[in-house]
Amino acid sequence: MCGIFGYCSYLKEKTRAEICETLCNGLARQEYRGYDSAGFVVDGDKPGEVFYFKEVGKVAGLRKKVAESTVDTQKAFITQCSIAHTRWATHGAPSTKNCHPVRSDPTSEFCLVHNGIVTNAAELRLVLQKRGYKFETDTDTEAVAILTKYVYDSQPEKRMSFTELVRTVLKELQGSFAFVFKSSHYPNELVTARRGSPLLIGVKTDKKLKVDFVDVEFAGAEADTQASQAITSPTSPSTLLAPPVPGSSSKLYRTQSRAFMSEDGIPQPIEFFVASDAAAIVEHTKRVLYLEDDDIAHIAEGELHIHRLRSKDEGAQTPSQMATTRSIETLEIEIAEIMKGKFDHFMQKEIYEQPESVVNTMRGRVNFDRHEITLGGLKAYLPIIRRGRRIVFCACGTSYHSAIATRAIFEELTEIPVSVELASDFLDRKTPIFRDDVCVFVSQSGETADTILALRYCMDRGALCVGVVNTVGSTISRETHCGIHINAGPEVGVASTKAYTSQYIALLMMALQLSEDRISLLERRNQIIDGLHALPGQIKKVLDNDKNLRGLAKNVLANSRSLLLMGRGYQYATCLEGALKIKEISYMHSEGILAGELKHGPLALIDENMPVIIIMTRDSLYPKVQSAFAQITARKAQPIVLCNDDDDSIPENAKTLRVPKTVDCLQGLLNVIPLQLLSYHLAIQNGFDVDFPRNLAKSVTTE
Ligand code: F6R
Repeated sequence: MCGIFGYCSYLKEKTRAEICETLCNGLARQEYRGYDSAGFVVDGDKPGEVFYFKEVGKVAGLRKKVAESTVDTQKAFITQCSIAHTRWATHGAPSTKNCHPVRSDPTSEFCLVHNGIVTNAAELRLVLQKRGYKFETDTDTEAVAILTKYVYDSQPEKRMSFTELVRTVLKELQGSFAFVFKSSHYPNELVTARRGSPLLIGVKTDKKLKVDFVDVEFAGAEADTQASQAITSPTSPSTLLAPPVPGSSSKLYRTQSRAFMSEDGIPQPIEFFVASDAAAIVEHTKRVLYLEDDDIAHIAEGELHIHRLRSKDEGAQTPSQMATTRSIETLEIEIAEIMKGKFDHFMQKEIYEQPESVVNTMRGRVNFDRHEITLGGLKAYLPIIRRGRRIVFCACGTSYHSAIATRAIFEELTEIPVSVELASDFLDRKTPIFRDDVCVFVSQSGETADTILALRYCMDRGALCVGVVNTVGSTISRETHCGIHINAGPEVGVASTKAYTSQYIALLMMALQLSEDRISLLERRNQIIDGLHALPGQIKKVLDNDKNLRGLAKNVLANSRSLLLMGRGYQYATCLEGALKIKEISYMHSEGILAGELKHGPLALIDENMPVIIIMTRDSLYPKVQSAFAQITARKAQPIVLCNDDDDSIPENAKTLRVPKTVDCLQGLLNVIPLQLLSYHLAIQNGFDVDFPRNLAKSVTTE
């Protein structure tokens, strides 16, 4: 997790106040990624001097600190580079001490911001401590900062470029990272690199940007050998002895592509924005470039150069990593999409966006008149998927629930066996995967570490890998063979809402497309497609019930410590997803229970004090859920019944939550919305910060 931000302005006068504002805004847009602390570093008043601003908690606190500071905010810089960070604590408690940027030494020869976890940091720390280096934080990042200084100090002639230096350091690291490095030895330069954590660079020029791509410079094999002599084995840091080989520099990067050269030799003003998420960049520029794993980008003198950590022949690299250019893409998101607008919270806004977001998921893909589905991103792969021996869905959290929700209809329509896997468990079990398997990776962010690792695991075993993601340009969307963008728009609230309904629809569309040539299913398919057509209007109706849900949270559930959600068939996933929403933002214990399992244990929890929501919308399993209802009411439970608006068979004294009726396999899309709203109201009435639930972050980029 964590959000990182880097800002370089070249030949463009900026006051320190403007720079601080840009940094704070960049962090605020990424605050959902972690909000344990926030900090940044800007140039000081003298060459080589830097000023740090750090605060525990959210960016608002950091802004206050800046406002109260006595530094000269009007000092102007023609060219400058600064770095910033919003933290989700992994190593070391949330405190000012552990707040990023982290420095190599009290004079800040090197400082950096980091998203990810360096898993061999403890070993590096030990070796560096033995060599006399002092640590001042509990973070894993500090080992990297000090290692950078160590490598720098070890070269007698100090001839390494900033990129070479970082490259030598990165070769020693295990784990995942996105870094931005700043150094007093390399003024007005930034180096940024990633492995396993997202990173992109926005480019803003006064004139129209003519460059469409940036060349990638691969390290030469010869140079690799030399560089790796510097610090040999990452697994045995005791070998961290030999100083780097001086003079290897000229061989490391033989070509120097000049991506943003000044026109006719006249230097042009330019700004670069480095971030973990496009949301931090879009207010400045829409022209961005996504870095691949093991890319190292160097920003200096108004130019951007991209280098590979490895040579072309070294180690397994994906086709997108091996590409010789990184293209500059145009962001599709608008700044308004990542603002709260008239809503109090992002989560609330995103719940209310669902009538439109589901339409966006279907736009251009569903022809309601002809009952046809066209998923452009899958088209070429449909025959392979149809021939597959099985389909394996792999995901975490809410995305996993969307796969559970659609498994039955997927199997019914395609007659291909489907298994649904939690990515972490899938990897723990080293699940057997074969060449004729089709593996579908569902992820809102496209950056969830467990899901990415599962994807790479399946790739290595030759399976066809399909991505179902919301974030265009994310790692999963780039590394899969094919896929579907769910087009739900940016989801900022940490609790996923609109992504769930859009993932659900995307998976359903996939099943519909795969079954398009099955005449026997024509009627069923048409019924589902008609159901999809009516869905946005029905979601609006469910949202109209918001006031009742607020009342339920306030009058019925306010003092409850636990809440059970019960259902079966299609509604089991709704129960799991509703329970997850309730626990993550209202901190109330909540459990989704398969009603068929009631007698096998959970019934023991039932008494007059245990609140239960039972999902009894009409489908073929209705009689069975009725019997679960009878069993719990016999134990004095007073369940809240989530049922269809025309259902008159629910006992009159039961509290009901009513939703419109739709096709069985779509009903979960409507049923989940009251539960999203209920979780929202439970959190609000307890005074909890809905968009920033404690201990969580939106994008889980660490295992
Ligand atoms: C819950 C929630 C998480 C995510 C999970 C996977 O509201 O947001 O459970 O669903 O961390 O994230 P993605 O979908 O980005 O892979």
